[in-house]
Amino acid sequence: PEAITVQELANRMAEKGADLVKALFNMGMMVTVNQTIDQDTAELLVTEFGHNIERVSESDVDIDTTGDVDADETLKARPPVVAIMGHVDHGKTSLLDALRGTDVVRGEAGGITQHIGAYQIKTKNGAQLTVLDTPGHAAFTQMRMRGANVTDIVILVVAADDGIMPQTIEAINHTKAAGVPMIVAINKCDKEDANPQKVRERLLEHEIIVEQMSGDVQDVEVSAKTGKGLDELIEKILLQAEFMELKSNPDRAAEATVIEAKLDKGKGPVATVLVNRGTLKRGDIFVVGTESGRVRAMNDDKGRQVKEAGPSMPVEVLGLGGVPMAGDVLTVVESEQRAREVSSYRQEQATAKRTATAPASLDTMFSALA
Ligand code: GTP
Ligand code: MG
Repeated sequence: PEAITVQELANRMAEKGADLVKALFNMGMMVTVNQTIDQDTAELLVTEFGHNIERVSESDVDIDTTGDVDADETLKARPPVVAIMGHVDHGKTSLLDALRGTDVVRGEAGGITQHIGAYQIKTKNGAQLTVLDTPGHAAFTQMRMRGANVTDIVILVVAADDGIMPQTIEAINHTKAAGVPMIVAINKCDKEDANPQKVRERLLEHEIIVEQMSGDVQDVEVSAKTGKGLDELIEKILLQAEFMELKSNPDRAAEATVIEAKLDKGKGPVATVLVNRGTLKRGDIFVVGTESGRVRAMNDDKGRQVKEAGPSMPVEVLGLGGVPMAGDVLTVVESEQRAREVSSYRQEQATAKRTATAPASLDTMFSALA
């Protein structure tokens, strides 16, 4: 038979969890709000509190629109999302800086990227790119894995003086697993001890055959320091993107993926999201993972306030009820009530999963009864 947590039942009945615990206590059952009760007990409680029993299906309380497909005629071209991956210190952030004309590296603690930064680049001929800078340090494997999943194209950065290193191989494996096309940027070609040919040869061992070796993976020699090869790199990205015909529907309720999220001292919970489809607007009500919220403000990658964000655009969102997890999908819903309903349902599901096997301690018993 189906089981439900006391809290979940309380929410559905719009009663206090503690009141249900008390009622159960009077019925001779010692449970906490986070514990599950069987269907018979639940039904008994429902009638005890004078409510009617009405069963609802999963789709009535939760939403998942990620599988819905937009009609062809609603689709419009969108910018490619490009992730820069590679071994620590091979020059990922420097390359991004060179492409953007900024200096992010200098502002980083110890010159190490610790998060996924998402930026927009407008090329000389007016094309837009969204670029994700990912951490190369071994400790950030998790984040790198997430980076590969929202990405259309991966730029594998390999320093020509250092060659193929452990996180280079890791990035290759993530990219293969995600089924994303790769462009190899052989960086630091300005250095005296640079050996780009050796990089190409060593890539063969990992079944990456670049164009220069008569394969079909695009490669380009670059230097983030001198700017060598950067125009060519952009051309190759745009060529790859054009071939992929990336499209999505900008005219619908927004759906976005959380790239990273944190609790900011001044701003409260903030999330950097990448819009997958639709247009996210200021004032929109949304659910994201187990949290809900309303877009209070949005900032672009340069910290400027924006009123809306379309497909492939990365924005920082303020107005969340809590900190979501990277990879969570933000879905815009029609009302605050709906948002609360879905997020509290998801919270209960998550809690039930966590506490399903945890025995009740006397402490939690009494705090529930208090
Ligand atoms: P993590 O984020 O820690 O993984 O490093 P990263 O891959 O972002 O490397 P970053 O851009 O921080 O560069 C590492 C070092 O290499 C810095 O000292 C850069 O100045 C230097 N560097 C990057 N690109 C080049 C290049 O093309 N030529 C030379 N000579 N140095 C470079
Ligand atoms: Mg970096």
